[in-house]
This record gives sequence, C-alpha cells and structure tokens, in this order.
Amino acid sequence: MFKKLCIIGVGLIGGSIARAARANDLCTTISAYGRAQDLDNLQQALALKVIDSYSLNLEQAISDADCVIIATPVGAMPAIFKQLQAYWSDSVLYMDAGSTKGNVIAALSLVFGDIPGNFVPAHPIAGAENSGVGAALAELFQGKRVIFTPCVQTDKHFIKQATYFWQGMGSHISYMQVEQHDAVLAATSHLPHIIAFALVDLLGRKDEQGDIFKYAAGGFKDFTRIASSDPTMWLDICMANKQHIIPLIEQLSSELGDIKRMLQDNQAQELHDTFSYARNARQRFLDQHNNMTQSIIFTVQPGGHLQGEVRVPGDKSISHRSIMLGSLAEGTTHVTGFLEGDDALATLRAFQAMGVQIEGPVDGQVTIHGVGLDGLQAPKEPIYLGNSGTSMRLLCGLLAGQKFDAVLTGDKSLSGRPMRRVIDPLSKMGAVIESTDNGTAPLTIRGQSGALQGIHYDMPIASAQVKSCLLLAGLYAQGKTSVTEPAPTRDHTERMLSGFSHPVEQEGNQVTISRQGQLKATNIEVPSDISSTAFFLVGASIAANSDLTLKHVGINPTRTGVINILQLMGANIELLNQRTVGGEPVADIRVRSAALKGIAIPEEFVALAIDEFPVLFVAAACAEGTTVLTGAKELRVKESDRIQVMADGLQILGVEAQPTEDGMVIQGGTIGGGTVVSHGDHRIAMSFAMAALRASDTIVIQDCENVNTSFPGFVSLTAQLGLNISSEEG
Ligand code: S3P
Repeated sequence: MFKKLCIIGVGLIGGSIARAARANDLCTTISAYGRAQDLDNLQQALALKVIDSYSLNLEQAISDADCVIIATPVGAMPAIFKQLQAYWSDSVLYMDAGSTKGNVIAALSLVFGDIPGNFVPAHPIAGAENSGVGAALAELFQGKRVIFTPCVQTDKHFIKQATYFWQGMGSHISYMQVEQHDAVLAATSHLPHIIAFALVDLLGRKDEQGDIFKYAAGGFKDFTRIASSDPTMWLDICMANKQHIIPLIEQLSSELGDIKRMLQDNQAQELHDTFSYARNARQRFLDQHNNMTQSIIFTVQPGGHLQGEVRVPGDKSISHRSIMLGSLAEGTTHVTGFLEGDDALATLRAFQAMGVQIEGPVDGQVTIHGVGLDGLQAPKEPIYLGNSGTSMRLLCGLLAGQKFDAVLTGDKSLSGRPMRRVIDPLSKMGAVIESTDNGTAPLTIRGQSGALQGIHYDMPIASAQVKSCLLLAGLYAQGKTSVTEPAPTRDHTERMLSGFSHPVEQEGNQVTISRQGQLKATNIEVPSDISSTAFFLVGASIAANSDLTLKHVGINPTRTGVINILQLMGANIELLNQRTVGGEPVADIRVRSAALKGIAIPEEFVALAIDEFPVLFVAAACAEGTTVLTGAKELRVKESDRIQVMADGLQILGVEAQPTEDGMVIQGGTIGGGTVVSHGDHRIAMSFAMAALRASDTIVIQDCENVNTSFPGFVSLTAQLGLNISSEEG
C-alpha cells in the first residue's frame, strides 16, 4: 500500500503498527523518528526488526514517506505538529493514534490555522499493560475497533486510504465526532484507569507489604490490571481530557455515597437492585460486544439427509410476548420452552432494565415477577435491542403510555428498518416518539401517561408487529383501540392477552382492546417455532432418504402458510398428535423426501408464511418447473432485503432466480456450490445451509452470527440430524 511508512514514536502502539503493517504487507519500508532521549528505544526497535531505519532528524525520517503516523503520547503532539509543518506534503497520509481527540484537533488548528485534509485522526482501541517497543505485537489490532474522528475538512480520499490501512491490520473502523469520542472514552477508558490507579494507591499506602497484597487474588487482580499501564501516558491522557473526566468523578463519588448510605441504613433491597442492575447492564454490554466482534462462517458440504426426531427451540414471537405480558401482569408467571436466542433475550433484558425481576432462562424456564400495568420503572440508559424488530416495534406501543421516557436502539440492521409504521398510528393516539429523519432508530419515546387516546386504525400493510404494538398501547389508552388488518397475521398477542385474563374482541378482520383492570399472571408453555421448523420441512423434502419428525411445533393457523405452500408443491408432510397447549395449537410434524414442483404461490399465504420465504426459495430452486412469488414486498424490509439477498445468493449457486419488486421468479433445477453472504440475516444463513443438501459442491455462508437470534444450537442440531455442516469464526 505504502512505499515508506514513517512512525513517530515507536512505543507499544507505534511498534505494533509497524509490526502489523509489515506482517500484512501494507508497506515496503518503515522508518522511525524519535528524540535524542529515545535513542535506546529506537535502537531496540531496529534490533528487533520492527523498523528498517531511524533518524533523530525529522526531515530525514519522513523524507519520501507516503504515510506518517504519530504514535507519541498525546501531550507531545503539539510540538510534533510544529516540527512537521515545515515538511508537510499534501500527498502524504498523516494519522495519529492518540487516545484523546479534542486536544489533537485543537493543536492541529493552532499550528496550521486550519485542519489539513490529509490528516485522519484515528484511535485504535487496543493496548496492553506492558509498554515500549519490546511489547509490540503484530496482532494487537486484529479484531479491534479503530475510531476515526474526521473533521469536515478531512478529505475522503485520505479517509479511504486510512480505512484500507487499518482494515488491512484486521481492525474494524467506527466513526465518531471528536467531542463524542472524548466523552465516551472518558467514561469507558479514562475513568476506569483513574479508579484502578486510585484503588491501588489507597491500598498500597495502607499496607503494601501486608495482608492486603498478600491475599489479594481474584477481584483485586482483575480490577486493577490496568493500573499496570504507563503512568506518563495516562497522566497525559487525563490532563488532555479532564473536562470530560471531572464530571464523571463527581458522579462516581455520589454513586459511592449512595452505596454507603444503603449500607448504613441496611437497605438490602436497594443495594441488591443496584448490583443487579449493574450485572444486567454488563451482560448487555457483553452481548453487544460479541455481536460486534465475532463473524461466523458456515461451511456445508454437499449431500446428506435429515433423519430422526427433534424438538427445535421455542417460538420467538411467543417468547417475546411472554416476557412483555408477564412483566405487566400482577403475580408470578412461569414460562417453559422459552427461546434462549438473542432476540427474545433482548426483550428479557429490556424489562429487567425497567425494574422487572426475571429469573432465568435456565433450560428454557423463566420466572417473571410481574410489576403490574403501571409498575415499570424508567430505564437508566438506552435500551439496546440488538437485531430484534419485534422487540422494538412492540415496545414502542407499550412504552408510549408510560410515566417515563425511554430510548430504544439496535444493531445496524435494526437501525435501518422502518419504524414509521408504528410511529404514525401511535402519534394519532397521542404518543410522542422521536426518530431519525428517515423514521428509523434510535427512537426516543416520551411517555404520555394517562394521555393516550384509543383510535381505530386501518392497517395499510399486514403486520402482526404493528397490530400488537397498537394493542399494547391500547392497554394504556382511554376508550377503545381497534385495528383492522388487510390479511390475517399472527395472533399470539390476542391469544396471550386472553390467557392473562384480559379481554380482546375479535370480529372478522378487526381486533379491539380497551384497558379493563389488570393482567393476571399465568403459566406459559412455549411451543417449538414453526419458523425454525420450516428449515427442516424444506431440508427433509429436498434431500433424498429423509424422514424427520419435529416435535411439539406451534401450528397456529396464522403461521402455517409454509405447510400450505409446501403441500401445494407436493411435499409429504403429516400433522400428528394435534392438541392445544396454553391456548396455542400444537402438533408433531412428520416430513419425508418428496419430488417438489414449482407453483404460483397464492398471495393469501404470504402473510401466513412471511418469515419462511428464504427457505421456500430454496425449495423452489429444487422443484421441477417455475415458482412465482408476488405480493411479498414486505420481504424487502426484514432483517435484510430478503428478495435481493436470496436472489443474489441463489444466482451465485447457479440457480435462475429473478427478483421482482414484490417477489421472485425461480426456475427449479440444480444447485451448485459457492460462497454466499447472509448479510447478518439469520434466516438467510439457515436457508442456504439447507440448500447444501441438494448442492453439487460446498456452500460457504458468511455473516452467520445472527443465527443465534432465533436458533441457538442450529449447527450442532442439524449436524446431528445428518447435515454436513461446520462453523468457524471468520
Ligand atoms: C412478528 C411478526 C412478523 C415477523 C417477525 C415476527 C411478530 O413481522 O416477520 O419475524 O412476532 O409479531 P411483521 O408483522 O412486521 O410482518
């Protein structure tokens, strides 16, 4: 990428950049600059072959360099900029690697009068408690985040170069405003370092040789690891960012004051709540972090069959609703068969964040200590809902009538999904919801306790999420709230409200609710998810010698479109042992190999099979003749654009798949091998895994991490049943 990379300041970070750039072939030679007092360090860098040359003369060190990185402590940067100014070249990419950004930008504009367009401010979120070039590692930035804080003046061409460079070292790039960067880092990095230094300082002064250090293992060691960091560097960072750090120290002092008071006054419950809140918040953070950093790749060998008996995980829609209604009920609700997937867990954590005590899930069992319709508490921070559209849309309705405000956020996919479909009708009820200009998350819901008004809403699209959202808002509105739907959609909310002893009126395509007393806690047995079952219905149909029984599957008639469609295509599916469990119809489903034929999918089945089209497209690719889907425009705004993404993947596998505005035309035939991208969409990933049962070569599927949103254990379960699948971190 670069002929000559020059590093100014070859310590841990500068040295690691040099090592990583070399290991990843990002430059031909590497020079370094340092001051006379850095000579030993520079010599060591040369001896370790971290750099190819060094100079104590800046002009010489940077001559002919096409990329210059300033990796000195932030306090040294103003002086470096002054020196660099005389030799500045407009064609060179300059970057820093500093942990604070406000002072770097201020120093640049002081020296240059304006921010040079070829300077890209960058902060790698990576480090180690060891310092110096001896500790430098080529892998230090692998899988780590690098934050760019470009200014309006920063040239796109140089941002692109910087992006290639850091991605080449294995980093993920994020963008932030300078101010936002410094505020966030003050809380997430600078304050924790100060606390670690302070604690060791306090305990060390007390008893350095004595018991405290002798017996300090676990907690003390974990907590104070970062107090081994370089004091000079941290002095610099803290001084540079004190305007953000000082208010945080004040807040922390007051939090400690509160805890002291709780201890003095024996307020065990309050203290327990504080600790529980913190534990749950940390879990949410870890979930987000895992989502950000892990990329999972499935590799599926061609052939295989599906045989045996299996119970797939619990229904996602019902699991979400069990937490929501259980939380709003009076009394304790026990749930079994709960889906321990990321989406349903996002809902569970959202309610914990609003003060509901929820135990589990352990083996699918959850106990919810309901707080009543008016018992939720304000969440202390934005509620992160990951990939889960159902959580976000239903929560909008439920939160609209609360006595507090809340902010809902989600991952990249969820932050791109349309929310006006709920914001518009809720606003007609008097809700106040702020979104981005595009009508997407983050959403701020300003609770309008007591001020919501029931309306009648004629839904322009068939959406169970919109319907459920309005019914939940209706629990808080004056008068009646009624919704008509253009086609039947899943009715789990209605059924479950009745299960919680709250009346809902259903008349034709209209459902009506008004607040009537309270919800009464009940027990819920969540059946297996027919949407997860669908992969096996298709897989066993298309693979020779398959005979599979799927146990305890929810067959609510608003969800069984996939069975109707597959049967029209000639599938061999039998419903056995039909029964009703907790207000929902359930059956065991036996499916055997069958020769499928292409059909024109009746539009009346679209809403009833809305989540199953990715895998139905795979069935169509294996069928004889043409399959045509129309009237399914909604597929374009699911976790991904499921029409485009499936058509792209099928074409890669050699299938004639023509996307249309509201569906797809698929010519059945043979499926080849190849690498397809699921775009983080769980159902796309699992559908292509099933395609391998009939493929002529290996199928590699990228971006499969979100399979955990709806189907934890998918890989091991399918492998057990006969699919040649493996999964690895990418
Ligand atoms: C869901 C409804 C459907 C479905 C989603 C879950 C629900 O969305 O696609 O996976 O639980 O209510 P729409 O109602 O928006 O079609």
